[in-house]
Amino acid sequence: MPRTFSGNLAGGISVLAGWLLFSAGCQPQQPADHTDTQPSTSSQPALHHREKPSAQAVRDSVILYARQIARTVAQHLQAEVVRALRTGPEHAIRYCNLQASPIIDSLSQQWGVRVRRLTHKPRNPNNEAKGHARQILQTFLEAVNAGKNPMPVAEYHDSLQGWLVYLPIRIPSPFCLTCHGIPGRDIPQPIQTALAKYYPEDRATGFRVKDLRGMWEIWIPDSLARTFSATKPS
Ligand code: HEC
Repeated sequence: MPRTFSGNLAGGISVLAGWLLFSAGCQPQQPADHTDTQPSTSSQPALHHREKPSAQAVRDSVILYARQIARTVAQHLQAEVVRALRTGPEHAIRYCNLQASPIIDSLSQQWGVRVRRLTHKPRNPNNEAKGHARQILQTFLEAVNAGKNPMPVAEYHDSLQGWLVYLPIRIPSPFCLTCHGIPGRDIPQPIQTALAKYYPEDRATGFRVKDLRGMWEIWIPDSLARTFSATKPS
């Protein structure tokens, strides 16, 4: 499946003939509205309305779903990290090193989506945001620097047969600083030692609470998006 979408997506955004562009969906980071995601109303007898969900409603449903996925994955990861920390700092770092990606991947598979964490300051070099994703992350960084809350981005990519949703990840609490804060101040020495061992090129330190740590990239196939957008009309 499309591991390939990790690459530069600049060329992958296509605008299908007949798409309607809504004013709310025409910002640069939202290149096109995908208006043909709605199912035929005849196969949806439970719908109480006769109108198809608007492009904005479909987008909102996709973002809502992505948020739920991100929250669940984050909770899961945090619970595992807390558990691993009890066994000791070295173990915790080694555990993250070995298990973070498999945990994310297995949850993704369970839901039929694909989830990645991308960042401008990677600890794991595989998580570095590049190309199109990096540009989106840049808009998030600019928003945070301007004291604003970055807005999620949802794009339909015809080449991926689905949506890519980008959600900002901000450092929610001092807990994260144990491993992502300022070395020598927030990060205890044993953790620093373990980080140096497993991540010699670590760039994921120096953060403070509320800083932008990175973002979620969540691919939601159109087949899945159609099912829940049908139940969330505008
Ligand atoms: C016990 C140490 C530890 C704590 C606490 C911790 N992290 Fe991490 N974090 C790591 C490690 C190790 C990785 C690299 C995982 C990998 O190899 O995939 C990582 C990776 C990440 C990534 C992926 C991007 C990258 O740099 O590879 C994000 C995003 C992230 N952490 C956010 C957080 C947030 C937010 C919190 C607080 C809720 C947090 N972390 C708490 C150790 C920690």
